[in-house]
Amino acid sequence: MNRLQNKKILLGVTGGIAAYKAAEILRECQTMGAEVRVVMTPAATEFITPLTFQALSGLPVHTQLLDAEEESGMGHINLARWADAVLVAPASADFIARFASGMANDLLTTLLLATEKKVLLAPAMNRAMFDDPNTQKNIKQLESQGVIILGPGEGVQACGDVGQGRMLEPEILAQAVADHFQTGELAGLNVIVNAGPTREAIDPVRYISNHSSGKMGFALAQACVEAGAHVTLVAGPVQLETPSGVERIDVISANEMSAAVMSKASKADIFIASAAVVDYTPVEIAANKIKKNATEMQLILIKTPDILTAVSTQDSSTFCVGFAAETDNLEKYAKAKLERKSLDMIAANWIGRDTGGFNNDYNALSVFWKNGEQEIHSMPKPEVARELVTLIAKRYHEKNTT
Ligand code: C5P
Repeated sequence: MNRLQNKKILLGVTGGIAAYKAAEILRECQTMGAEVRVVMTPAATEFITPLTFQALSGLPVHTQLLDAEEESGMGHINLARWADAVLVAPASADFIARFASGMANDLLTTLLLATEKKVLLAPAMNRAMFDDPNTQKNIKQLESQGVIILGPGEGVQACGDVGQGRMLEPEILAQAVADHFQTGELAGLNVIVNAGPTREAIDPVRYISNHSSGKMGFALAQACVEAGAHVTLVAGPVQLETPSGVERIDVISANEMSAAVMSKASKADIFIASAAVVDYTPVEIAANKIKKNATEMQLILIKTPDILTAVSTQDSSTFCVGFAAETDNLEKYAKAKLERKSLDMIAANWIGRDTGGFNNDYNALSVFWKNGEQEIHSMPKPEVARELVTLIAKRYHEKNTT
C-alpha cells in the first residue's frame, strides 16, 4: 500500500546496535512510496556505514554539521524544511538527552531544532538505561512538546538483558509514520470488510450461491480507506476492481471466507460483515459431475460457520457491524440479529423494493444500534457507504471513550 506516496521522510540514525535495522526502515518507507533522506550522528557511523544508506536511498547521506560541502548542497535549514516528518530510529539515550535539553551540537539535533514538522522517536537502549529517571524525564518532556515516542518494545536485548528497550520492528515504525499522515475519522484503525456472495460447490460444475454483487462492500472498503483506515477486504467471487489502498483477499466458499477473516480478526478494530455468506453448504462435494438420470435428487446441506458471530464473540472490543437483508419485518428481524449476534450495529435493507439492495447501484439502509437508529435514504452505494462509515466511526469512538 502506498500510504507514504509523495511524502518526504527524514530518517535520523543515532549510535546504537539497532542502527543496522534503520536500513530496513528506509526500505519499508520507500515501499510505501516515500522519498527518504538519511541523517546520521557520528556515533551511528560506527555501527553502520553511510554508504549503505546512500546505496539504498540513492541520495547523499548527511553526517556533518560543520562541513562546507554538505552545507552548500542541502544545509541543515533546507533539510529541516524539506522533510514532511522526521523519524529518529534508533534514538539513543544520549541523543534523547541532547534533544530534550535543546542542544544543537550535531547535524541531527540542529535540524530538529529547526524543523516545524512532526518528529517521531524510536528509543532503543539497554532496559536499565531506559528505566533511568533521567531518560524517563527526557522522554516525558519531549512527549509534552508534541514529539511522538514509538515504543520501545520488550524482549531480549543485544546485551543479553530482557526488558523494555528494544527498538520496535522496522515495519511497525514505517506504519506509525504513515499513521501520522492519516487524517479522517478512522485514522490508523484496522478494518476488515467482507463482501460479495460465497459459492458452495455441489460438484465440479455446479454450486449454490446468491445474487450479491459485492458493490456495497467494495464501496464500504473504499470509504474506510478514505477515512484513514488500513482495510482488508475479504471478497467472494465478484467482478469488481480493488479500491485503491485496500488489501484484498479473494475467496470462494463460506469456509474460505471464514478462515480469511479469522486470520485477521485479532488485529481488527472494526469488522463490517457485508458479505452475503451462503447459509448452507453441501456436506460432500461430488468428485465427478452428477448425472441427471433420476427424476429427483437429494442434497444434504450443513450450516456454514457464522463468521460475524465468531468475530463478535471472540473479542468484544472489535466493533462489529452486521447486515440484514429482509423481505418483511425489517426492523424486528434486524434488531433481533443485533442482539443474537452480539453486534455493535446492524444495517438493514429491504429486498425486492425499489430502494436498492442486491445487485443494484443504489441502496437505502435502516441502521440500528443499542438505543439508537438512523435512516440512510436511497442513493448511490458509494454515498451510502460514506454515510454508514461516518456513523460507524462516531459510534466506534463513543464506545472507546466511555
Ligand atoms: O443470519 P443472517 O445471514 O441473516 O445475518 C446476516 C449477517 O450475518 C451479515 O452481516 C452476514 O455477513 C453475516 N453472516 C455471517 N456468516 C454466515 C451468515 C451470515 O457472517 N454464515
